[in-house]
Amino acid sequence: MIYVVGSYNTDYIIRVEEFPAVGETIFAREIIVSHGGKGSNQAVSAARLGSKVRLIAAVGNDDRGKEALKFWKDEGVDTSKVKIKNTYTGSAYILVNKRGETMIVVNKGANYELSENDIELDDGILLTQMEVREKVVMKALQSFDGIRILNPAPVNISDYSILNYVDILTPNEIEFKELTSADDIEYGLNILLKKVRIAVIVTLGERGALIATKDKRVLISAPKVKPIDTTGAGDVFNAALAHYLEKGEDLESAVEFANIIASYSVTKIGAIGPKWEEVKEFVEKEKRKEKSSREKRGN
Ligand code: RIB
Repeated sequence: MIYVVGSYNTDYIIRVEEFPAVGETIFAREIIVSHGGKGSNQAVSAARLGSKVRLIAAVGNDDRGKEALKFWKDEGVDTSKVKIKNTYTGSAYILVNKRGETMIVVNKGANYELSENDIELDDGILLTQMEVREKVVMKALQSFDGIRILNPAPVNISDYSILNYVDILTPNEIEFKELTSADDIEYGLNILLKKVRIAVIVTLGERGALIATKDKRVLISAPKVKPIDTTGAGDVFNAALAHYLEKGEDLESAVEFANIIASYSVTKIGAIGPKWEEVKEFVEKEKRKEKSSREKRGN
């Protein structure tokens, strides 16, 4: 079972040509309202790949909260531990430019009402992020027996001892910089690996992902695609990583799958990953390419 402790937001996606400059007014090309929030995106994306997923999250006592619950049920996510709080559901305002780049502002709402007492976990894989309170994430990490993945997005950490309870940390480049204040990647990795138990995986967008363990660095490349919307690419990556680790793949192989599925997802609008039936052909093709280039390189 994959446990996801995290947020739900209604996403208001505003597609524009270019981001506005400070003080500038621009027109939207299109506005799309969809389900989002890093926790929900990761839970649904893992369920779409075929994992059993239980989400621990909070929504408000409003229509958007009800819609979220219905959405998770339709997607096969276990909502038995989702809490309804006496407030409004979280929301996010996402600008997406013509290159698929994004800027996101989140209104926390019910996500910040999720409390330590709401955390009930067994074992398996835990996937969590930082759009809920830090002490809630800490409680989840401390009380979990299986593999603990922290996607430090956004970097909302005041007590860095939280990293002592993480097995796999998955920052993107911006989060890595915020976490380590290091210009030198090796230096930054060594700081993090003093705390994180198994690996730091830095996601590098179209360049793939760098896996750093105590004794090894491996760069896993990503397929070349034309991005339309990179919102949630990190969420899809983390979901696929958890899914393949749960299926028993080793870290490098799980990251290879995660890169491929996240790359596919940026060719579509929205923050949630594809169903396995939709992405299967693309994954198999990219795996064949990867295998033949490995054979050419002689490893
Ligand atoms: O990672 C993408 C997500 O970040 C969006 O769905 C938005 O809700 C914000 O949480």
